[in-house]
Amino acid sequence: MTEARPRIWVSQPLFPDVVGRLREYFDVVETAQVTRHAPAQIAAALAACDGALVTLNDRIGAPEVAGAPRLRAIANVGVGYNNLDIAALTDAGILATNTPDVLTETTADFGFALMMAAARRITEAERWLRDGQWRQWSFETMLGMDLHRATLGILGMGRIGQGIARRAAGFDMRVLYHNRSRLPESLERECRAGYVDFDTLLAQADHLLLVLPYSPQVHHLIDAAALAKMKPTATLTNIARGGIVDEDALADALGSGRLAAAGLDVYEGEPAVNPRLLALRNVVLTPHIASGSLATRRAMVALAVDNLTAALGVGPDAGRPPTPINAAALAQAKPGLKRGA
Ligand code: DGY
Repeated sequence: MTEARPRIWVSQPLFPDVVGRLREYFDVVETAQVTRHAPAQIAAALAACDGALVTLNDRIGAPEVAGAPRLRAIANVGVGYNNLDIAALTDAGILATNTPDVLTETTADFGFALMMAAARRITEAERWLRDGQWRQWSFETMLGMDLHRATLGILGMGRIGQGIARRAAGFDMRVLYHNRSRLPESLERECRAGYVDFDTLLAQADHLLLVLPYSPQVHHLIDAAALAKMKPTATLTNIARGGIVDEDALADALGSGRLAAAGLDVYEGEPAVNPRLLALRNVVLTPHIASGSLATRRAMVALAVDNLTAALGVGPDAGRPPTPINAAALAQAKPGLKRGA
């Protein structure tokens, strides 16, 4: 009698040719359409599998894994993993992995583009033109804010923040950053970035970019009080997570002219967008696509597949998933999880 192959649940449609590599080792259950799975559906799917490939749409914590005795690994397709309760997964002996590095440059490109679009009012100007409002050329049409030689403030100086700082050199920008921990001096020099405290960053940035990971500690870090410390001519760009910004306070600041413009790729209740933001002309809104180049999204799925395969003890990296989040879970791995040398 042949032994049943381990089973993998793929929670969302993800490049079938890349995901198809899993079939060499596993039975794979793919989700045909983008789905907002209810917690009970996630729990039911996880109960019947050994590993899962999930995205930020799928929130997984203790209740979702409680009835999943076979589940050994969850590969998140994304660098941010606030959709996963890592402590609960570790307690349950489930390894979680994410997809850092492969998306760094693409996401930094997008952060820069969104900041430029907000500062130079690109989408607002396009809407105005398409609406037939451009009746004659005027010297004062859609005046925006310069990026070159302006001060760029980066909140969160991980790999993506550093990528943005490197791009800023080409615009001759002065770069300031704030981060949980200060970068080594050599890296600061390479990024041409100076460390400042949070309030100084708010006060001095002409353009403030949010690139920090979400955690409950930074929930609504950018609130009315923080926005009040910024220059009225400044822009705010968020490519991190929506919950970092108090969206009502931001709408107040943008609506009253307290802040010049904003670029948002992430939202607290996404895919729902605060209607007050939708009604404002001076905010560029994009649907969480910062890492969304074709090559990078494929690379993210490929890395997640590699992580899952390795975490389940097969393939070239068997037992050594390339980018684990909670390596501690390996130490209390469930029976059957092979670990490499
Ligand atoms: C990430 O990787 O965290 C992006 O926000 C979504 O894929």
